[in-house]
Amino acid sequence: MKPKEILVFGATGQIGRHLIRKLTKNNHKVVAVTRNIHQKGYTLKTQANPGYLEIVELPYFNIEKIKSLIKECSICINLIGILFEKRKNFFKNIHTDFPDLLSKLSAEKNIEKFIHISSLGIENSNDSKYATSKLDGENKIKNNFKSSVVLKPSLVYSVDDNFTTNFMTLLNRLPIMPIYYEGKTKFAPIHVTDLVQIIFDVVQGKTNEQTIECIGPEILSFKEIILKLLKAIDKKRLLIPLPIVIAKMMARIFEIMPNPLITVDQLSLLKHDNISSGKYKTNFDLNIKANKIFEEEILKYSFNWRSGGQFSRDNISKIS
Ligand SMILES: NC(=O)c1ccc[n+]([C@@H]2O[C@H](COP(=O)([O-])OP(=O)(O)OC[C@H]3O[C@@H](n4cnc5c(N)ncnc54)[C@H](OP(=O)(O)O)[C@@H]3O)[C@@H](O)[C@H]2O)c1
Repeated sequence: MKPKEILVFGATGQIGRHLIRKLTKNNHKVVAVTRNIHQKGYTLKTQANPGYLEIVELPYFNIEKIKSLIKECSICINLIGILFEKRKNFFKNIHTDFPDLLSKLSAEKNIEKFIHISSLGIENSNDSKYATSKLDGENKIKNNFKSSVVLKPSLVYSVDDNFTTNFMTLLNRLPIMPIYYEGKTKFAPIHVTDLVQIIFDVVQGKTNEQTIECIGPEILSFKEIILKLLKAIDKKRLLIPLPIVIAKMMARIFEIMPNPLITVDQLSLLKHDNISSGKYKTNFDLNIKANKIFEEEILKYSFNWRSGGQFSRDNISKIS
């Protein structure tokens, strides 16, 4: 297939870095946009061979600059997202208004495709601003540009994520671990390389589906995920179901911190399962497999949190 010029917003995140590697290895040329080239440039530069990656620094609502970037690309991919609101970062700006703008400009320049990463499990979470802003974003995109594709992943994990790695740190340090909604919320965790394969297949035009729910091969409850993480780091911890009133009070205190452990909005989101809704096709329906097993993949990096590290005698005898 002819190499494409692909513009990626939010490229410095977990999904973005893996995606750049996949696209450039397959000869596509990537233009990665970041808000701060001095802070993030080095993480990006190492993701591709010289000549395949251009890095552009951009304050995000610089419409003229965005127009000129979109004019030069055949595919635009938006990976920008936040988990909590802080200072001037509001869910609406980032999850609704910015994708609205990108999809309008993509339509105006009539590019081949606009690919947007939204989230799974947001349809019923009316009381979460994260969920409603993502859903509004999806609707605007679909109205603005018919050649847009919305991908809705469940929990995306890898050594570069902020979920399994943060939880392994917490489980390492805390003697007890609070769990919310008795740990019953269900997820279909997908490994970042499996998600990147789905994005790649969309880029290559292997599917014309407009909305795809991106799920991994298993359904795991929040409690099962925590138990698997504990097993991987070889720790035993007391899991305490926290009444939601107390969880909300604690979340309000966490929200004062620069990087809160959990927010009230995330608690609202956690009330709802994060698995295929049945409303849209999944990657499996489209014959795009996601085979990586959660327990096997986390073992590949959990040694960072196990006593003694990777090559301690105990760890080696347990793995072999
Ligand atoms: N990870 C998951 O489990 C998961 C699950 C479902 C959906 N998603 C969605 O998938 C997308 C990518 O996820 P990810 O895990 O790769 O995200 P991530 O690691 O948090 O990266 C997000 C990117 O967004 C940009 N960004 C962050 N705050 C911004 C702001 N205020 N204004 C403009 N840009 C900002 C950052 O780029 P710069 O700092 O370089 O500008 C960053 O590279 C997001 O939309 C996310 O909601 C992720």
